[in-house]
Amino acid sequence: MVRHLLKVSDFSKEECEKVIDKSIEIKKNTEKYSSALEGETLLMLFEKPSLRTRISFETGMQQLGGHAIFYSIKDSPLGKKENISDTAKVASRFVNIIAARVFKRQDIWDLAKYADVPVINMLDDFAHPCQILGDFQTIKEKKTHLEKMKLSYFGDAYNNVTYDLMRMCALFGWRMDVACPNSPEYSPEQTVLDEVSQISKETGAEVKVVHDTIEAARDSDVIYTDSWMSYGIPQEQEEKRKKAFMHYQVTLSVMEVAKTDAIFMNCLPAMREYEQTTDVIDGPQSIVFDQAENRLHIQKAIMLFLRDKF
Ligand code: CP
Ligand code: NVA
Repeated sequence: MVRHLLKVSDFSKEECEKVIDKSIEIKKNTEKYSSALEGETLLMLFEKPSLRTRISFETGMQQLGGHAIFYSIKDSPLGKKENISDTAKVASRFVNIIAARVFKRQDIWDLAKYADVPVINMLDDFAHPCQILGDFQTIKEKKTHLEKMKLSYFGDAYNNVTYDLMRMCALFGWRMDVACPNSPEYSPEQTVLDEVSQISKETGAEVKVVHDTIEAARDSDVIYTDSWMSYGIPQEQEEKRKKAFMHYQVTLSVMEVAKTDAIFMNCLPAMREYEQTTDVIDGPQSIVFDQAENRLHIQKAIMLFLRDKF
C-alpha cells in the first residue's frame, strides 16, 4: 500500500524516530546517499509562497540523484479546467512522489486519495509534518534525546505548525502548553484537540491550551513560536492580530522563566518584534537556523522512507 505523509501522526512514534535517525545519518554522510533516488522525480505543487520548503526539497532531491519539478498551481489547469483526481492520476504516471503546499486540507487529502504514488504535505491549513519532523531532529541534536520534555508554544494556535507540534508532543508523551488568546479564532480546532487527547491516552502526554504566558514557560525545555500572519491571512487583519497576540510575544522575560538551557525555535519566516523580540531570535538560545537547515536532511529521509529505500 502506498504511504503518504499528510500530518505528522500519519507516522507512528517509532516511524518518526526511524526517519529522524536516518536524517541524522544522511546529514553526516551526504555522499553515501548521492544516488539513493537516482532517476526519480518529485513533483512540487505550490499554491502558497515558500523559501525553505521549496529550496530544501529541490536541493535534497538533487543531492539524492533525483530531480524535482516546481509547479505553481496558478499556472495549472487545476480548479479551472481539471479536478484534483485527474491531476493526481496523471501526475502519478510521470513522477515518483507528489508534494503539495495548498490552502485547503481537503485538496491534499484528495491528492492522496487519487494518487498512485506517495503524497507529502508541504503545508496546508491543518499540518506541516516535514517541519515538525525536522524540528524534533533539531531538538534531539541539541538535547541528545527525545525523552519526555516540556515544549511551550506561544501565539497563533489556530495554526498548521501548532497542530503538528501538538500531535508530535502527544506521540512522544511530552508536556506541551499552547499559550494563545482566549478566542476560538486563535485556538486549536476541536478535531485536533480530540486527536491529541486520543493519542495522549496511550502515551501519557499532557497537551493543554493555556492563557498565562509565565505558567506556560515555566520549566520548559523548548520555547516555540510561529508567525502571526500565516500565508493567506489578509493584510487588513494585521493590526487586529498584532493586538490580540502581543501578550503572547516571546520576550527575554518569557525565556527567563523557562529552564536555563531552554532553546528557542521558530519555523520561519519570522518577524522581529512581532511573535518574538529581536534579542530572543538573535540571542544565544535561538536555534532557528539549525532548525531551518534540518528541513533539507529530514525531507531526504522522508522521501527515502516513503519510497521504501531505507
Ligand atoms: N518553514 C517553512 O516552511 O518555510 P517556507 O514557508 O519558507 O517554506
Ligand atoms: N503558520 C505558517 C507557517 C509557515 C511555515 C504559515 O502557514 O504561513
